[in-house]
Amino acid sequence: MTSQRHLAEMFSLDGLVAVVTGGSSGIGRAIAGALARAGAGVVIVARREAELAAAVDELAADGCRAAWVSADLGTRDGVRAAAERAAGVFGEPDILVNSAGINLRPPMGELDDAVWDATMAVNLEAPYLLGQRFGPGMAERGFGRIIHVSSQQAHRAFVQSGAYGVSKGALESLARSQAEAWSPHGVTCNALVPGFVLTPLNSRLASDQETVAALARRTLVGRNGLAEDFAGAAVFLAGRSSGYITGQAIFVDGGFSAH
Ligand SMILES: NC(=O)c1ccc[n+]([C@@H]2O[C@H](COP(=O)([O-])OP(=O)(O)OC[C@H]3O[C@@H](n4cnc5c(N)ncnc54)[C@H](OP(=O)(O)O)[C@@H]3O)[C@@H](O)[C@H]2O)c1
Repeated sequence: MTSQRHLAEMFSLDGLVAVVTGGSSGIGRAIAGALARAGAGVVIVARREAELAAAVDELAADGCRAAWVSADLGTRDGVRAAAERAAGVFGEPDILVNSAGINLRPPMGELDDAVWDATMAVNLEAPYLLGQRFGPGMAERGFGRIIHVSSQQAHRAFVQSGAYGVSKGALESLARSQAEAWSPHGVTCNALVPGFVLTPLNSRLASDQETVAALARRTLVGRNGLAEDFAGAAVFLAGRSSGYITGQAIFVDGGFSAH
């Protein structure tokens, strides 16, 4: 067997369809690109159309199959409508990546209902509702991959974890509940756990050079994360060779969590 064929059998996503929320920016954009370049037809979902179009144009220029759906995942109706429109592009997805997320970071004492509700809606309810919409179909077809993007703050509190840390802790529990339900039918459900990654989500924190340097020092690799660091893990978890890995939180964090 040639190495090309072996690699394709292990990791190719040819013929699969992926929906990637938050695929227009940061970690989600890097994951969407990696899945598309590995052969999947990818539909990215977020709100801002210019960013969505730019991400899809870049993939199309590389010969990838990609499309976008503009939707607000902050409301249940918005999520449900987005799911139908996304499934209407290349068909029902085999792979669902939940990367859309917000981190509003008010100090705990100033956390109000609006911040709590907005955080839970985008970070937790949207992944839950998309799972409810797509998970049973994946199980029925005997193959599926659900990948959530969690956070260190699911495991430890720092830099104002507030509602955000709560939403990510629950997201990892959601992966386990989904794995319990659907993994007997070929659907794996896992979470990727980033460290500190320089993306638009962190623009405010990123301007504090001292904190950025301190976070880099907390890793074992010696630097903060890049969106591209998630490409390999996402392709692996989305592919056929990772079928025995489920219900896990997989840290892609340069060793941030290892000490
Ligand atoms: N960067 C980090 O250090 C870090 C660390 C741990 C975990 N994470 C997690 O990684 C994921 C990706 O973060 P990132 O750093 O890549 O952030 P980012 O660059 O800000 O991207 C966030 C994405 O989510 C979309 N989004 C936000 N609110 C939405 C809504 N209401 N409806 C639809 N789409 C929405 C954004 O597009 P629109 O604004 O156009 O809607 C964008 O595509 C998040 O879940 C985040 O919590 C990031």
